[in-house]
Amino acid sequence: MSNIENISVAIITVSDRASRKERSDLSGPQIRDWANRHGYTIVAESIIADDFDQIRSKLIEYSDAEINVIFTTGGTGFSPRDITPEATASVIERYAPGFAEAMRHASLKITPHAMLSRAICGIRKKSIIINLPGSPKAVKENLEVIEKALPHAVSLLKGEVRDCSNPDKPNSS
Ligand code: MTE
Repeated sequence: MSNIENISVAIITVSDRASRKERSDLSGPQIRDWANRHGYTIVAESIIADDFDQIRSKLIEYSDAEINVIFTTGGTGFSPRDITPEATASVIERYAPGFAEAMRHASLKITPHAMLSRAICGIRKKSIIINLPGSPKAVKENLEVIEKALPHAVSLLKGEVRDCSNPDKPNSS
Protein backbone atom coordinates (compact mmCIF):
# COMPACT_ATOMS: atom_id res chain seq x y z
CA MET A 1 0.00 0.00 0.00
CA SER A 2 1.12 3.59 -0.72
CA ASN A 3 2.84 5.32 2.17
CA ILE A 4 0.45 8.08 3.15
CA GLU A 5 3.16 10.74 2.76
CA ASN A 6 3.48 9.68 -0.89
CA ILE A 7 -0.18 10.55 -1.48
CA SER A 8 -0.62 14.09 -2.77
CA VAL A 9 -3.74 16.05 -1.92
CA ALA A 10 -5.33 19.17 -3.38
CA ILE A 11 -8.09 21.16 -1.70
CA ILE A 12 -10.58 23.32 -3.59
CA THR A 13 -12.99 25.44 -1.59
CA VAL A 14 -15.97 26.34 -3.76
CA SER A 15 -17.75 29.39 -2.38
CA ASP A 16 -18.77 32.68 -3.95
CA ARG A 17 -18.46 34.54 -0.66
CA ALA A 18 -15.14 33.04 0.41
CA SER A 19 -13.70 33.70 -3.06
CA ARG A 20 -14.68 37.37 -2.69
CA LYS A 21 -13.22 37.35 0.85
CA GLU A 22 -16.64 38.26 2.30
CA ARG A 23 -16.29 35.35 4.71
CA SER A 24 -13.34 33.30 5.81
CA ASP A 25 -12.90 29.79 4.53
CA LEU A 26 -13.19 27.35 7.44
CA SER A 27 -13.76 24.18 5.41
CA GLY A 28 -10.55 24.19 3.37
CA PRO A 29 -8.51 24.46 6.60
CA GLN A 30 -10.62 21.66 8.08
CA ILE A 31 -9.53 19.37 5.21
CA ARG A 32 -5.94 20.64 5.54
CA ASP A 33 -5.86 19.77 9.26
CA TRP A 34 -7.29 16.32 8.59
CA ALA A 35 -4.78 15.67 5.78
CA ASN A 36 -1.85 16.87 7.90
CA ARG A 37 -3.00 14.77 10.84
CA HIS A 38 -3.09 11.66 8.66
CA GLY A 39 0.26 12.40 7.01
CA TYR A 40 -0.90 13.24 3.47
CA THR A 41 1.17 15.70 1.43
CA ILE A 42 -0.85 18.78 0.53
CA VAL A 43 0.39 20.19 -2.76
CA ALA A 44 -2.30 22.69 -3.78
CA GLU A 45 -5.10 24.73 -2.25
CA SER A 46 -7.47 27.19 -3.85
CA ILE A 47 -10.65 29.11 -3.20
CA ILE A 48 -12.90 29.66 -6.20
CA ALA A 49 -16.44 30.85 -6.92
CA ASP A 50 -19.49 28.65 -7.46
CA ASP A 51 -18.84 28.81 -11.17
CA PHE A 52 -18.99 25.78 -13.46
CA ASP A 53 -16.03 26.81 -15.64
CA GLN A 54 -13.79 27.76 -12.70
CA ILE A 55 -14.48 24.47 -10.92
CA ARG A 56 -14.00 22.46 -14.10
CA SER A 57 -10.71 24.25 -14.96
CA LYS A 58 -9.30 23.73 -11.49
CA LEU A 59 -10.21 20.03 -11.50
CA ILE A 60 -8.58 19.60 -14.91
CA GLU A 61 -5.46 21.53 -13.81
CA TYR A 62 -5.02 19.41 -10.66
CA SER A 63 -5.76 16.08 -12.34
CA ASP A 64 -3.46 16.91 -15.27
CA ALA A 65 -0.81 17.43 -12.57
CA GLU A 66 -1.60 13.88 -11.37
CA ILE A 67 -2.44 14.91 -7.83
CA ASN A 68 -3.68 11.73 -6.19
CA VAL A 69 -6.68 13.04 -4.28
CA ILE A 70 -8.60 16.23 -5.08
CA PHE A 71 -11.13 17.35 -2.49
CA THR A 72 -13.74 19.95 -3.23
CA THR A 73 -15.80 21.46 -0.44
CA GLY A 74 -19.06 23.30 -1.01
CA GLY A 75 -21.61 23.77 -3.73
CA THR A 76 -23.17 20.32 -3.48
CA GLY A 77 -26.59 21.40 -2.22
CA PHE A 78 -29.78 22.82 -3.68
CA SER A 79 -29.03 26.55 -3.77
CA PRO A 80 -29.33 28.10 -7.22
CA ARG A 81 -25.54 28.50 -7.56
CA ASP A 82 -24.63 25.00 -6.27
CA ILE A 83 -22.96 23.42 -9.30
CA THR A 84 -19.96 21.48 -7.97
CA PRO A 85 -21.33 17.97 -8.76
CA GLU A 86 -22.17 18.95 -12.35
CA ALA A 87 -18.72 20.49 -12.91
CA THR A 88 -17.16 17.37 -11.41
CA ALA A 89 -19.26 15.07 -13.59
CA SER A 90 -18.08 17.00 -16.64
CA VAL A 91 -14.43 16.03 -16.04
CA ILE A 92 -14.45 12.56 -14.53
CA GLU A 93 -13.79 9.50 -16.67
CA ARG A 94 -15.10 6.92 -14.20
CA TYR A 95 -17.54 7.27 -11.33
CA ALA A 96 -16.58 6.11 -7.85
CA PRO A 97 -20.08 6.03 -6.33
CA GLY A 98 -19.10 4.03 -3.26
CA PHE A 99 -17.46 7.03 -1.62
CA ALA A 100 -20.51 9.24 -2.06
CA GLU A 101 -22.90 6.46 -1.06
CA ALA A 102 -20.92 5.75 2.10
CA MET A 103 -20.74 9.43 3.04
CA ARG A 104 -24.47 10.00 2.58
CA HIS A 105 -25.36 6.74 4.32
CA ALA A 106 -23.26 7.56 7.40
CA SER A 107 -24.27 11.22 7.40
CA LEU A 108 -27.97 10.36 7.39
CA LYS A 109 -27.47 8.90 10.85
CA ILE A 110 -26.30 12.36 11.95
CA THR A 111 -28.72 14.62 10.06
CA PRO A 112 -31.61 14.14 7.62
CA HIS A 113 -30.14 17.09 5.71
CA ALA A 114 -27.41 14.70 4.51
CA MET A 115 -29.74 13.73 1.69
CA LEU A 116 -29.44 17.29 0.37
CA SER A 117 -25.82 16.77 -0.57
CA ARG A 118 -25.64 15.89 -4.28
CA ALA A 119 -21.90 15.17 -3.94
CA ILE A 120 -20.30 12.78 -6.43
CA CYS A 121 -16.90 11.14 -6.57
CA GLY A 122 -14.95 9.90 -9.52
CA ILE A 123 -11.66 9.36 -11.27
CA ARG A 124 -9.91 11.50 -13.87
CA LYS A 125 -6.54 10.27 -15.08
CA LYS A 126 -4.64 9.32 -11.90
CA SER A 127 -6.76 11.46 -9.57
CA ILE A 128 -9.64 10.63 -7.28
CA ILE A 129 -12.01 13.59 -7.04
CA ILE A 130 -14.17 13.75 -3.93
CA ASN A 131 -16.94 16.31 -3.43
CA LEU A 132 -17.53 17.22 0.21
CA PRO A 133 -20.33 19.44 1.51
CA GLY A 134 -19.51 22.99 2.51
CA SER A 135 -19.80 23.22 6.28
CA PRO A 136 -16.73 22.43 8.40
CA LYS A 137 -18.88 20.07 10.48
CA ALA A 138 -19.98 18.16 7.39
CA VAL A 139 -16.40 18.07 6.10
CA LYS A 140 -15.17 16.51 9.33
CA GLU A 141 -17.99 13.97 9.48
CA ASN A 142 -17.61 12.93 5.85
CA LEU A 143 -13.82 12.60 5.97
CA GLU A 144 -14.18 10.26 8.94
CA VAL A 145 -16.32 8.00 6.75
CA ILE A 146 -13.88 7.63 3.86
CA GLU A 147 -10.51 7.80 5.62
CA LYS A 148 -10.06 4.05 6.01
CA ALA A 149 -10.68 3.24 2.33
CA LEU A 150 -8.88 6.16 0.71
CA PRO A 151 -5.25 4.92 0.81
CA HIS A 152 -6.24 1.59 -0.76
CA ALA A 153 -8.16 3.41 -3.50
CA VAL A 154 -5.06 5.49 -4.27
CA SER A 155 -2.85 2.40 -4.33
CA LEU A 156 -5.16 0.71 -6.82
CA LEU A 157 -5.25 3.79 -9.02
CA LYS A 158 -1.46 4.10 -8.94
CA GLY A 159 -1.23 0.45 -9.98
CA GLU A 160 0.69 -0.42 -6.82
CA VAL A 161 -1.82 -3.08 -5.77
CA ARG A 162 -3.75 -5.49 -7.91
CA ASP A 163 -4.51 -8.18 -5.36
CA CYS A 164 -7.14 -6.70 -3.05
CA SER A 165 -7.07 -9.81 -0.89
CA ASN A 166 -3.42 -9.07 -0.13
CA PRO A 167 -3.06 -5.29 -0.44
CA ASP A 168 0.35 -5.15 1.23
CA LYS A 169 1.88 -7.44 -1.37
CA PRO A 170 3.64 -5.32 -4.00
CA ASN A 171 2.49 -5.61 -7.57
CA SER A 172 4.62 -8.37 -9.04
CA SER A 173 3.55 -8.09 -12.69
N1 MTE B 1 -23.41 15.85 5.97
C1 MTE B 1 -22.97 15.76 7.22
N2 MTE B 1 -22.30 14.68 7.58
N3 MTE B 1 -23.21 16.72 8.14
C2 MTE B 1 -23.90 17.86 7.81
O1 MTE B 1 -24.06 18.72 8.70
N4 MTE B 1 -25.06 19.08 6.03
C3 MTE B 1 -25.97 18.88 4.91
C4 MTE B 1 -25.41 18.01 3.80
N5 MTE B 1 -24.51 17.02 4.27
C5 MTE B 1 -24.38 17.99 6.47
C6 MTE B 1 -24.10 16.93 5.56
C7 MTE B 1 -26.54 20.09 4.35
S1 MTE B 1 -27.38 21.07 5.46
C8 MTE B 1 -26.51 20.42 3.02
S2 MTE B 1 -27.43 21.69 2.42
C9 MTE B 1 -25.75 19.59 2.08
O2 MTE B 1 -24.80 18.78 2.79
C10 MTE B 1 -25.04 20.36 0.97
O3 MTE B 1 -24.08 21.26 1.50
P1 MTE B 1 -23.29 22.28 0.55
O4 MTE B 1 -24.29 22.95 -0.34
O5 MTE B 1 -22.62 23.20 1.49
O6 MTE B 1 -22.31 21.49 -0.27
